Parts: sequence; C-alpha cells; structure tokens
Amino acid sequence: MKKVQLKPSTYLCPVPAVLVSCQDRGGRPNLITIAWTGVVCSDPPMLSISIRPSRYSHGIIRESGEFVVNIPSADIVRKVDLCGIISGRDTDKFEKAGLTPLPASHVSPPLVKECPFNIECRLTEIVPLGVHDMFLGEIVATHINEDCVDESGQVNVGKVNPLAFTPPDRSYRSMGDALGSYGFARKL
Ligand SMILES: Cc1cc2nc3c(=O)[nH]c(=O)nc-3n(C[C@H](O)[C@H](O)[C@H](O)COP(=O)(O)O)c2cc1C
Repeated sequence: MKKVQLKPSTYLCPVPAVLVSCQDRGGRPNLITIAWTGVVCSDPPMLSISIRPSRYSHGIIRESGEFVVNIPSADIVRKVDLCGIISGRDTDKFEKAGLTPLPASHVSPPLVKECPFNIECRLTEIVPLGVHDMFLGEIVATHINEDCVDESGQVNVGKVNPLAFTPPDRSYRSMGDALGSYGFARKL
C-alpha cells in the first residue's frame, strides 16, 4: 500500500476521553472534558492533562493545585461531550449533564459518581508548551466501582468499558475485546 504524507498534527489515536473535576476557592465544582491526557510516570504514579489557558478550568486548577481524573464508561458519552462544549463560567455542568458529585478522600474537587474510575491528583508542575499548558499531577488516591473489581482486587476493564477518542475523525469510540495480555507473546 502506497503511503501519503499528512502535515504534522495530533493524529495519535486512540486517546482517552476523560472528565476532569476541579473546584474553585468558593467551593464551586466544575468539569472539563480532556483528551490530551496520559500516564507520565509509574513511581511516583503521575499523569498529565493539557489545558488551554482560555478554559475556565485552567485558572481553577492552577490556583487550587488539585483535580480528579474521572474515567467515563462509553455509555455516558453524551454527557462527556456536553462537558466539552459548554463552559463552567456560566453553567453548573454537574446539574446540566445530570452528573453527581461525591466527596473525594484526599483532595477538594469531587469525584463523578457516574464514572467507574476516579483518580485524585495533586498538581506538581505546569509546563507551558504552546497553545496548551501541561499540568502534571501526582496520583494520591484512586477509586473504582465495586462491581468493576473481583475479590482479589483485579480490575475488570471490560466492565469499566472506558471511552476512547480518535482525534483524526474527532469521534468517540468504545473499546473492543482484549486481544492478549502483557507478555503473552512469550508463550508462543
Ligand atoms: C472530546 C473533547 C476533548 C477535549 N480535550 C481538551 C483538552 O485536552 N484540553 C483542553 O484544553 N480542552 C479540551 N476540550 C475542550 C474543553 O473541554 C471545552 O472547551 C470546555 O468547554 C472547557 O470548559 P471550562 O471552560 O468549563 O473549563 C475537549 C473537548 C472535547 C469535546
């Protein structure tokens, strides 16, 4: 197959689509949909979220130093999209999207009840990159729905059914079946 060359862009796919919760000094929570997120270190466990300075959430997280990365299931895709097209400056997104805030254990911003996985983070650094600033966060606590873990603590990702996003066509997708597990090629 012949290749065609595209201009340099953010075609990396799939990426997650997550709901990040934050809370201002007055105790008012907000949500922002984020696709530019990833794991950046295993120990200490750290992740990044990249946010444009124009977003209302940017100033909130910069000032509070805390945020929660909530991993949505594919079935709440419309709520995830809604939180990515309206601003919390003038709207209560929890109310508008029909999402429920739950108290976190280590940070002030709430967890999103409807998201099976919730990752509490403390901001360690902001790295200006260009149109986005990268917020690095240390993971200080993780919560998961009871029915998504078995008795031995093994996470059932199939039940979490995490939502994926594919930037080249700006589409949301659900994940297919597991194809193998880390190192399974050694058994061949
Ligand atoms: C699928 C999707 C992914 C997005 N990813 C990002 C992102 O990674 N960084 C960002 O700054 N904005 C991103 N946005 C846009 C913000 O979510 C959107 O501007 C939002 O309304 C900002 O809310 P706020 O003003 O309440 O902070 C994304 C939107 C969608 C729909």
